[in-house]
Amino acid sequence: MFGKEGEKMIRLDKYLCDAGIGTRSTVKGLIKKGQVRVNGEICKSPEQKIEEVTAEVDCNGQKVVYETNTYLMFYKPQGIVSATEDKKEETVLDFLKKAWEEKEDMPFPKGLFPAGRLDKDTEGLLLVTNDGALSHELLSPRKHVVKTYEVTLKKPLHADEILTLECGVDIGDEKPTMPARVNVLQDGRIHLAIMEGRYHQVKRMLAAVGNRVMHLKRLRMGTLYLDEDMQPGQYRRLSEQEVLSLRDKVPSLESIEAVIFDVDGTVVDSMWMWKRIDREYLTRFSIPLPDTLQAEIEGGSFYETAVYFRERFGIADPVEKIMADWNEMAWEKYEKEVPLKAGVRDFMQLCKNRGIKMGIATSNSRELMETIERVHGLTEYISCIRTGSEVQKGKPAPDIYLAVAASLQVDPAKCLVFEDLTAGIMAGKSAGMKVCAVQDAYSLDSDREKRKLADYYIEEFGQILEREGLRQGQD
Ligand code: URA
Repeated sequence: MFGKEGEKMIRLDKYLCDAGIGTRSTVKGLIKKGQVRVNGEICKSPEQKIEEVTAEVDCNGQKVVYETNTYLMFYKPQGIVSATEDKKEETVLDFLKKAWEEKEDMPFPKGLFPAGRLDKDTEGLLLVTNDGALSHELLSPRKHVVKTYEVTLKKPLHADEILTLECGVDIGDEKPTMPARVNVLQDGRIHLAIMEGRYHQVKRMLAAVGNRVMHLKRLRMGTLYLDEDMQPGQYRRLSEQEVLSLRDKVPSLESIEAVIFDVDGTVVDSMWMWKRIDREYLTRFSIPLPDTLQAEIEGGSFYETAVYFRERFGIADPVEKIMADWNEMAWEKYEKEVPLKAGVRDFMQLCKNRGIKMGIATSNSRELMETIERVHGLTEYISCIRTGSEVQKGKPAPDIYLAVAASLQVDPAKCLVFEDLTAGIMAGKSAGMKVCAVQDAYSLDSDREKRKLADYYIEEFGQILEREGLRQGQD
């Protein structure tokens, strides 16, 4: 990553793209035709690493002017507007320029703008940069980059309202909000993680459940977290690592012979549904839903979870009856309510076109999996299904992934797994497979760990089609 004297190295094709010479494919063409020289020598390899700052590059005899971008983490205080200019109000840029000139002995970088908006009365994390491409990527409505807010409310939230916020709430737009995640803090404030950026979204979501936002602070945007010791009005440059982490980490399908999917939270947007079923089921026995239940049952097979419920809640019914009751409740939801996650079918079609085999490794039951296949027309893509109850040990043990690979007759090293939970990611990794973590509202709390454990991370499957040049940005 770094050159002889610690200088950062960068791929030649990226260097040329960043310098505005053209798209990745245009610059690759120029390089391959021998039109690019590095330190006086023709270089025909787009992946050649060069010194970012000191390399002398010319293209068709013209010196390439390369300026690196600036990335600032800014703790926006209340009372300023998220704009570069405003006739009446102080803007984020006015504020930052003043702060910069007090602290730095170099000129204020050109072209800075806030990547995204916070209301005037909202404080917290704002990325300020002059990297238009990265900002576009982060703000694309299709990409669903997560934003987490600390919200002080007028009154406490009830469990029902939390579930409504988490499952999607009607805020008067064409569509309800996407699934979200709520964590209640000890003092009654909440952390609300959302994957969209609609106008006044947090305030409108809380208003929709009869509450009111008294104070709003943004803590997170994608992989970027506001430093805990930062004060309103302070800024700092992002580290190399932080900038890298903001960029897509999308898998390549090269040398992949089989793709194996987890189902709930990966192929279908169903994680909220299980929480609802858990609650509806426990209500039958007048038992309130414990806050920690999901963490307690994560990754367990269907059977293991039923055994756990029986013991944990003292339910007299046999395990088989518990499972039958759940299946019945889930059946209806899977038939009528649970949607496929964005881009899944197009991705399966891509795999089919490329001759990549596909299998399912789920902790859910075979009957439910077959319902999902039928309702969403996936049968033509999936050649093998294995469920948790058909193997010795559930995830994080590798058994289920190995069983699917064996049945597809593909070497585990040539399999790519898609998973939304840490236990599943661990299962795929210990099976010796490449693993791509899939973002899901339900597991946003363990996102950092998911990114660390997995080889790749996607917010949605369309990103892979985009990477393969099969879907053009429409936003
Ligand atoms: N949602 C809001 O309502 N306001 C903000 O500033 C950000 C998200």
